Amino acid sequence: MTAALPARVRIVEVGPRDGLQNEPQPVPLETRVGLIQALADAGLKHIECGSFVSPKWVPQMAGTEAVFRQIARRPGVRYSALVPNLKGLEKAAECEADEVAVFVSASEAFSHANINCSIAESLERAGEVASQARALNIPVRGYVSCVLGCPYSGEVALTDVARVARALDELGCYEVSLGDTIGVGTPLRAQRMLEAVAAAVPITKLAVHYHDTYGQALANIYASLELGVAAVDSSVAGLGGCPYAPGAAGNVATETVLYMLRGMEIETGVDLEKVRAAGQMIRNALASRVS
Ligand code: HMG
Ligand code: MG
Repeated sequence: MTAALPARVRIVEVGPRDGLQNEPQPVPLETRVGLIQALADAGLKHIECGSFVSPKWVPQMAGTEAVFRQIARRPGVRYSALVPNLKGLEKAAECEADEVAVFVSASEAFSHANINCSIAESLERAGEVASQARALNIPVRGYVSCVLGCPYSGEVALTDVARVARALDELGCYEVSLGDTIGVGTPLRAQRMLEAVAAAVPITKLAVHYHDTYGQALANIYASLELGVAAVDSSVAGLGGCPYAPGAAGNVATETVLYMLRGMEIETGVDLEKVRAAGQMIRNALASRVS
């Protein structure tokens, strides 16, 4: 059963985190800061600026404290950070992040590769983060990764995806973002996954986070909108991937999503041309480093 398409979609820009975490070389601080500011200037209201994870695991995200210190904050923009544990939350709070995101995999194998613990242990850590964040008045967003497949164990059971999404909802995440970490979904499978999850968490609390390995991300977004999803994660210039998901391409490009939504007369409040300029800027900055 398809619902009416939403009149408005909220874009969560994850390029400065999900995008830059996968760059072969760390990106200079001023480039990270400049990118975030350009994205905020374009009208994006929710920007994931970096992560407070172990720099031994993801060296690209070292320096996220300095990023938060240097951005000139625009009123009305939520500058968020990904955190794996209480140590990450503590750093996020020190940096006055407006929001934190916790992440739990629906696949045991990916959980061990990405954060060195089981799904159950990572839910426990996410619970600690959520309760401490509540005490600090910091909203928490939850990610479920590997919702349509795992780079290590292949197929992921929809019952596991729904179970982890429900657990994140129950521990207080205001929204649960469903991540096709390796970009293997198709519209049919995306809809089946969403139907399974929506039986456990209201669809209004779900966002989608599609990587674009096989060029299916935009089609998957359309299929998700048909079911009533109205929050979409995307990454400027289609940057990214995950260091622990070998072969996965970047997220769907923010520019591509905005172009489709504008053409469908769905509001986002974001200026496509300014995002394209930000995309060009980061592409040039990354290219000039490589040469
Ligand atoms: P560990 O080695 O099991 O844990 O790592 P540990 O407690 O032994 O800590 C190791 C070292 O890290 C220690 O330092 C800790 O202090 C330090 P040492 O004593 O060796 O000098 N440490 C930290 N440092 C900074 N910030 C912290 C922190 N915590 C511990 N918060 C850990 C466990 C979780 C820390 C590690 O596995 C980790 O950081 N993993 C992060 C992996 C990651 O960021 N992956 C990419 C993001 S997920 C993703 O991209 C998917 C998503 O986009 C959705 C989708 O696409 O589907 C979200
Ligand atoms: Mg991702």
